[in-house]
Amino acid sequence: ETDMKIVCIEDLREAGSKSMPIRAREFYNSGSTDQQTITENSAVFAKYWLRPRVLVDVSAADPSTSVWGRRIKFPLGISPAGLQAMAHPDGELATSRAAAEKGINMGISSFSNYKLADVINVGRTVGPINYAIQLYTMKNRGLQERIIREAEAQGCKAILLTADSPVLGVRYNEHRNDFRTPPGLDFPILEWKNEEVRGRTHEAGFIGFNDDAHSWAREIPWLRARTNMEIWIKGVLTGEDTQLAREYGCDGIVVSNHGGRQLDGVPATLDALPECVEAAAGKIRIHVDGGFRRGQDIFKALALGAECCWVGRPAIWGLAYDGQNGVEKMIDILYDEFRRYIVALSVSDSRAFCIPTLSALVIDKQFLTSTRLAIH
Ligand code: FNR
Repeated sequence: ETDMKIVCIEDLREAGSKSMPIRAREFYNSGSTDQQTITENSAVFAKYWLRPRVLVDVSAADPSTSVWGRRIKFPLGISPAGLQAMAHPDGELATSRAAAEKGINMGISSFSNYKLADVINVGRTVGPINYAIQLYTMKNRGLQERIIREAEAQGCKAILLTADSPVLGVRYNEHRNDFRTPPGLDFPILEWKNEEVRGRTHEAGFIGFNDDAHSWAREIPWLRARTNMEIWIKGVLTGEDTQLAREYGCDGIVVSNHGGRQLDGVPATLDALPECVEAAAGKIRIHVDGGFRRGQDIFKALALGAECCWVGRPAIWGLAYDGQNGVEKMIDILYDEFRRYIVALSVSDSRAFCIPTLSALVIDKQFLTSTRLAIH
């Protein structure tokens, strides 16, 4: 359907989804059980309205920001999402090239269908880019250590420790469609060859390697003793856990509900964000993902105190639509929208500035109101 005009992420969702068989499409697009959280993740943005200022010189407005010591084109990254070769044969390789081409960073899932070194090398050939390795707490600590050593050897800047998955979320589509690991796809980071996992349910694979005997006290010092990479906790939704991340000396958190694929019924990340920002008190970095589909969504999260936003499914839709080109299209759309908002809302240099400690693009809350406030 390459003749379809793609002007926004919703178009890309439609086009990308159309090009996939139902089993793959629903695996990627669905959330867990009743879809409450996944629905709310995107719906929540309508609770906030923007307060534009006028007649401000925005000719030098700059949407770039700094993440993991590198200037990125705007505050977006690609969330670690597994099994990308099911959306397009080039999978994570295409995503990596697109991210490098467009000047943003990428998180690499433990469930990548390509080797870590390959994903990273193809991106670096295109341009400068930083990577984070997504990790689970694993029963096989030897394997977990091998992944960490390899990530370090390949120059990953951070570990994203996924903390919201002591057990896998229940996704009805996987049962209804009898979703199984498709033939032909390996999981080299987990050291799984297709012969071993083909025909297996996602749940069976997950139970086999995931360690639910995890804790702050067990994991963070264990990681610290083994790596110099930054340690980020992915899947924090409360001020309490933000506080613990601080106390354990983590470098940052990703406020995330796993795109609504884990615990259904938790709030949208945009709603969880303010209490995490407050608990962080500027001492720990805060990124966020879940449901971001427009430049203005990114803008709202930044105004509520996030430094950077990540997207999972939009990259998958781009891949399914047109491989690397599709992912580039996704990034272009969000970049153009975000930049336009910065300019149109008069976020001039004086309000969007780099603070030396965090060197992040900061958007003041004055640009935001909520419907509730507007009514009262
Ligand atoms: C994910 N996500 C995810 N997260 C993680 O920590 N490890 C993983 O292996 C995966 N795998 C995965 C697969 C698929 C198909 C999706 C859609 C998501 C969650 C991901 O990192 C991110 O938190 C969400 O995708 C963000 O929400 P949106 O942007 O997809 O709405």
